[in-house]
Amino acid sequence: MRVAVVGVGNVGATFAYALLLSGFASEIVLIDANRAKAEGEAMDLNHTVPFTHPTRIWAGDYADCAGATVTVLAAGANSKPGENRLALVERNAAIWREIVPKVVKPNPDGILLIATNPVDVLTYAAWKLSGLPACRVIGSGTILDTSRFRYLLSQHFGVDARSMHAYIIGEHGDSEVPVWSLANIAGMRLPEFCKAQGLGYEPKEMEKIFEQTRDAAYRIIERKGATYYAVAAGLMRITQAILRNQSSVLSISSLIEDYYGLSDVCFSLPTVVDRGGVERLLRLELSVEEVEQLRHSAEVLKTTIRKLSLN
Ligand SMILES: NC(=O)c1ccc[n+]([C@@H]2O[C@H](COP(=O)([O-])OP(=O)(O)OC[C@H]3O[C@@H](n4cnc5c(N)ncnc54)[C@H](O)[C@@H]3O)[C@@H](O)[C@H]2O)c1
Repeated sequence: MRVAVVGVGNVGATFAYALLLSGFASEIVLIDANRAKAEGEAMDLNHTVPFTHPTRIWAGDYADCAGATVTVLAAGANSKPGENRLALVERNAAIWREIVPKVVKPNPDGILLIATNPVDVLTYAAWKLSGLPACRVIGSGTILDTSRFRYLLSQHFGVDARSMHAYIIGEHGDSEVPVWSLANIAGMRLPEFCKAQGLGYEPKEMEKIFEQTRDAAYRIIERKGATYYAVAAGLMRITQAILRNQSSVLSISSLIEDYYGLSDVCFSLPTVVDRGGVERLLRLELSVEEVEQLRHSAEVLKTTIRKLSLN
């Protein structure tokens, strides 16, 4: 149960910490262009072992990706305040051309889990550059946006966030799509839930909740410079579904083939994740408006992918 992490900045190091606390991995190897940073993180994490789980943690090289079930890629530039994720594409694609072949060479049988932004575009690029089957190239996608959405909705409706069922699909970014038509609590769609509780269903309030979801990263980066706890927990959840072969339904990014006529792009949909990576994508019955929004999101991503000339 080896997990490799490439890029141990805010996101990679927080993920490694979350993974160590979870006890799901027996080995965690940390790789970074800044070797001293990887060594420092490994030392600090090792001093956590007596409080947590027996785990071998070390600062390694790409050769140590050999045998890793999952390799998390979190290397690269982060958004500055007000900067859109897509603006990072050139800088991070250059890093991808360097690191993806180095990860895959010693580990052709592992799963790549991408966190670096723009995550959907870099998931597609990792698939192209690695030559791996698409089911083994996963982006964290909207697992984070879905979590933010569920949290905010749960606060509004006064229920546990884990009892709030709702998805954000499409791009992890400005064109993401809230699936209002299927959002539910205990199987009751939100207008029905409100009616049963004697509450009014207020579309304007719902829209505000979506805007807060979509723009959360901007608000956090303005305040603390980066976001990392929630994405690290999301990466941990995806890793857990893989290591434990859970067949969990998670909103992650992967290659799309013939979904409402959309193909050859990566974006997020509720996806069954197991030991093999993507087991299958779930074909949702979306409203006409949601399909239109999803088409727009796919087009935004395809336009950015085309700029990279990956073919
Ligand atoms: N997918 C999500 O939901 C999500 C959420 C938050 C952040 N992110 C993204 O994650 C990425 C990392 O963010 P961060 O805050 O951890 O950044 P960071 O600057 O703290 O860490 C980046 C790390 O990558 C390393 N690195 C840079 N180039 C490298 C290379 N060529 N090889 C190996 N290592 C290299 C750096 O040394 C650094 O340690 C960013 O692209 C950010 O936008 C994604």
